[in-house]
Amino acid sequence: MMAGKTTEPLYVTSELVVQDKYVPDARVVLFEGDTIQLLAQMPNGAVDLVITSPPYNLGKSYETRTTIEQYLAGQEQVLGQMIDKLADTGSVCWQVGNFVQDGEVFPLDIYYYPIFKRFGMKLRNRIVWHFGHGLHASKRFSGRYETLLWFTKTDNYTFNLDDVRVPSKYPGKRHFKGPNIGKPSGNPKGKNPSDIWQLMAEEWETCMWDIPNVKSNHPEKTEHPCQFPVELVERCVLAMTNPDDTVFDPYGGVGTSIVGALRHGRRAVASEQDPDFCRIARERIDEWQAGSLKVRPLGKPVHQPSGREKVSQVPDEWQHSEQARLLERKAK
Ligand SMILES: C[S@@+](CC[C@H](N)C(=O)[O-])C[C@H]1O[C@@H](n2cnc3c(N)ncnc32)[C@H](O)[C@@H]1O
Repeated sequence: MMAGKTTEPLYVTSELVVQDKYVPDARVVLFEGDTIQLLAQMPNGAVDLVITSPPYNLGKSYETRTTIEQYLAGQEQVLGQMIDKLADTGSVCWQVGNFVQDGEVFPLDIYYYPIFKRFGMKLRNRIVWHFGHGLHASKRFSGRYETLLWFTKTDNYTFNLDDVRVPSKYPGKRHFKGPNIGKPSGNPKGKNPSDIWQLMAEEWETCMWDIPNVKSNHPEKTEHPCQFPVELVERCVLAMTNPDDTVFDPYGGVGTSIVGALRHGRRAVASEQDPDFCRIARERIDEWQAGSLKVRPLGKPVHQPSGREKVSQVPDEWQHSEQARLLERKAK
């Protein structure tokens, strides 16, 4: 199995109660049911950050596929109510990929953008979450990223850049002219992580680099088909909220946003319609409290294959293939 780090349960309170309906100031609310029902329980302005990956209308086990127009009309209703619940200093992080019909690609962020604008939201970043691997397309280029739209409700929003800085590649760089000549030119706290996030990449998709040819599971993966990594949530939580703020995931899945919020002393509210996913979410919360939940550490560098792994080498049967020639040319 791939090594997964057990995480120390930061900010654990001795009696963490998981509420099953909205309770003001609760540390965790996990509502089993339709998000519209939970939204109806919540007062306006109660949420500091919405972070979610909504259904993409792909016909996954948890959704009924419909036309893109009907899908977006339904989502617009949810978004209107959700944005009412957002504090004026609040943010929405909406993580989406593509809806695909008969081989035609509909990038969902493009469709969602005008809806958010109709509600007066302001885009701060369109973050590209880049994957190293995924399905191989044959009639178009293989898709290797999804996006995360970060909107704020007003111009007065929380953004704690220092809490999410990453090490710079060349910290030793110095100014070579001007009044600061000779002084370090970077920031001692690290650099801005930029709007391209390469979190997880190979590991998330293939989960097989450490033990070639053994398909082991990523330490965070559950049986949910479309889970996102805790690390993705954590970066947003740290940058866009403060301790004790409330993080809301309307499509909670197996509780990834809850875990990402709790790990940093934020309150968490989520709705999830599927009882099995709710059960797994509760188990993950319990494991987090007990200190046994395995989470990929925030900021861990993405694994780079050395080239010596068996899976990195051209198989014997392909020694004279075009791929072998391409690799040879690259190595020169
Ligand atoms: C893309 S998945 C989110 C996975 C989540 N980010 C995680 O890491 O576990 C979307 C989830 O929304 C749930 N869902 C879909 N429609 C819903 C609704 N109307 N109310 C509540 N949950 C819903 C699905 O069951 C599914 O688990």
